[in-house]
Amino acid sequence: MKLDVGCSVWFLAVSLLPFVRITAGSILGAAVNIELLDQDKSQPVRAHYSVVSSLPCPALDELCNGGDCKDQLSSSPLTGALPSPGWCLHQWQKNIPEHHTSALQLGSEGAVSLDSRADLSVRADTNRINQPPSVALPPPVRLQAACPQEIPVNVMDLDEDEIRCRFKKNELGEFLHLNEETCTLLYESRAGLGQYSVLIMVEDFPSSDSKAEPLSTVPVHLLITVESGAGCSVVPEFTGVSPAGGAVIHVLPFEEVHVNITVDSRVQSVSEIAVTGPPGLFISTMEIGQNFQSSVKLSWVRGPNQFAHLLSVCFAANTQSLQSNIRCIWLQQMQTDPLPPGTELKCKEHELQMSLVLPISFLEKLHFSALQLNDPTCPVFYNLTHVTATFSLTGCGTKRMHLGSELLYTNTLRSINPNSTISRVATLILPLACRIPAQQAKGPAFKITIPEEVKTFGAVSFWLEFHLPGKGPMASKTSLPHLRSSPRVRGARELRASDRMDMLDLHVFSNCSLARAELMVGRCVESETEDLTNARPLLNQGCVSGNGTLEILTSTSTVRIFRLYLGDLGIKGDTMYVECVVHLCVTTKQTDRCSDPCTGTPDPTILDSIMTRSYTVRSGPVSLLKVTETSTTAAKPQSATPVAQPSTSQATTSTASRPLDTGAIWVVALSLLVLMHLP
Ligand SMILES: *[C@@H]1O[C@H](CO)[C@@H](O)[C@H](O)[C@H]1NC(C)=O
Ligand SMILES: *[C@@H]1O[C@H](CO)[C@@H](O)[C@H](O)[C@H]1NC(C)=O
Ligand SMILES: *[C@@H]1O[C@H](CO)[C@@H](O)[C@H](O)[C@H]1NC(C)=O
Ligand SMILES: *[C@@H]1O[C@H](CO)[C@@H](O)[C@H](O)[C@H]1NC(C)=O
Ligand SMILES: *[C@@H]1O[C@H](CO)[C@@H](O)[C@H](O)[C@H]1NC(C)=O
Repeated sequence: MKLDVGCSVWFLAVSLLPFVRITAGSILGAAVNIELLDQDKSQPVRAHYSVVSSLPCPALDELCNGGDCKDQLSSSPLTGALPSPGWCLHQWQKNIPEHHTSALQLGSEGAVSLDSRADLSVRADTNRINQPPSVALPPPVRLQAACPQEIPVNVMDLDEDEIRCRFKKNELGEFLHLNEETCTLLYESRAGLGQYSVLIMVEDFPSSDSKAEPLSTVPVHLLITVESGAGCSVVPEFTGVSPAGGAVIHVLPFEEVHVNITVDSRVQSVSEIAVTGPPGLFISTMEIGQNFQSSVKLSWVRGPNQFAHLLSVCFAANTQSLQSNIRCIWLQQMQTDPLPPGTELKCKEHELQMSLVLPISFLEKLHFSALQLNDPTCPVFYNLTHVTATFSLTGCGTKRMHLGSELLYTNTLRSINPNSTISRVATLILPLACRIPAQQAKGPAFKITIPEEVKTFGAVSFWLEFHLPGKGPMASKTSLPHLRSSPRVRGARELRASDRMDMLDLHVFSNCSLARAELMVGRCVESETEDLTNARPLLNQGCVSGNGTLEILTSTSTVRIFRLYLGDLGIKGDTMYVECVVHLCVTTKQTDRCSDPCTGTPDPTILDSIMTRSYTVRSGPVSLLKVTETSTTAAKPQSATPVAQPSTSQATTSTASRPLDTGAIWVVALSLLVLMHLP
């Protein structure tokens, strides 16, 4: 299975604790969150399961007991190292009846039995059906036997009901108390070393009536590990930039969320920041900074999903024998309205544009003059019946990101209320997205993820872009290039008038954010045909081959640029296809450098460099024809406006503005959020 790789890496990397061992196949934590479905009367509840189990990571079917479990996303499960032998998080969903007991079992262990209960009736106080509370599943809880500790059980209720917690099971007995109102566990110290199962029921009550019966119930099970520890040392603490526990982040469709977590640990060095969160949550490698600080960056893109409306992200810093407090935050997926008929979003591949037509009859009291894209200087037009906007995928604040295996371009149309306190004025928020499925994304935007290397480099993509000299994102480096070797005196041949370009810059990008990683480009070949028959070399082992290619040096380690002199390369035809073999390199010692493939013999002292395997990136068709600006603008009047293309001279915009001629199938995505501000 795809998950095995990450799990075994952790298994090797972690030394075992002397006293506490978990039998393989334990469930270290589990939570069931429930939401009501409107349609299905026999199975009216959708249950969202989160289960932390010890390594080796079980397959999903082992956990969900022959049920019709639906894996939520084909992303590798999140993992953590402590307590050893480490753990992984599985999440899935299943439709269940309103009262249900889910029995989770791994191997021969006793089953963990989780009761959930929903109330489908309409509440007298709100005239709506109750929304059950949500409970967060934290990373496995570790306690030092001798030290008192508070462990918050993080809960939230979208109806703002009162929430109370109660024990269903408490193997720690007198050593562990639960404050039922605040849902906080208090460990008293002095328990024996070992693992203790605790099951807590989380229930919501109408705020007005504290004597009432609970409206609904959701369970959370924790297997708490009591370790010997090093006396009552000061545990690691989260600092400044880390979000406060209980923080709520509202997330629109296709929005990307970023969270930075920093922890300060004086007594022992932090070995991991353990994180639980929704499928697709990306966790960067931990960076160890100065002043005892360690940090990770989390990011998550909201794609189309059937996850719960409220998603928790919990984190705790582990050292070999200590654990920080556990914090959880919530991602609230904002619900969107259906779009009015006649709405149209087009992703225009060749123009690299998105265009929107939105009927506005349904939107009364909106200040149409205050509609903006991410970049407020890009124009949005409106008349009595429609709002229209056409904008560049490389400008107007359009963001480019990855969602699972898709490439996403997103922008947001929103109305900015001139005065924040205005009442009875609607706010329109319309996320716009173009999605390119991976199978189709075979152009320069081609993406390759590297599951095995995730722990070292993060999830990394590579792509190729082509720009005329002095154009594109690295324009400042290519207009007056600093070349690796001095350019040959070039003949008068270049001055010859031609409808083909003379020079083109090949950019090889990676999005690796690891500061010390270097992008290495191995061999690149070029061909007139897509299947790369009769391919000719552009680069050989990252070194320019022949005299038609020169490397332009940049100070950025995630991009390599090569200037191609098309005439000298003997490239025929109007179109070429390029394929490069790339890899990332990072050295284990800060002072080492990755060996430069072009300076001849590799340095034998750097044998312990970590080097990734090689990956192949292929471009789509790259047009080598000059296109004059007059013809471009005449064909697409609106393309003159995007700020990303302030071109003035002829024959410059064509390639620069078309780095992503992908030949992809575009998928259009739209959703709508209208907020009414009432007095
Ligand atoms: C996270 O840290 C990076 C720098 O490392 C910073 O650019 C970014 O703004 C931070 N993000 C948040 C959400 O704090
Ligand atoms: C408003 O713009 C839309 C879209 O461009 C167009 O179809 C419609 O005819 C226009 N309506 C009026 C009244 O001009
Ligand atoms: C916003 O508020 C200010 C003062 O409160 C007022 O003068 C101004 O006209 C308001 N603008 C709009 C567009 O309502
Ligand atoms: C690079 O892109 C991949 C998707 O292909 C994404 O998962 C990853 O988060 C990105 N890495 C960084 C460091 O932005
Ligand atoms: C370099 O360029 C010259 C003239 O364009 C050509 O004759 C020669 O073969 C080239 N050298 C190599 C090694 O490709």
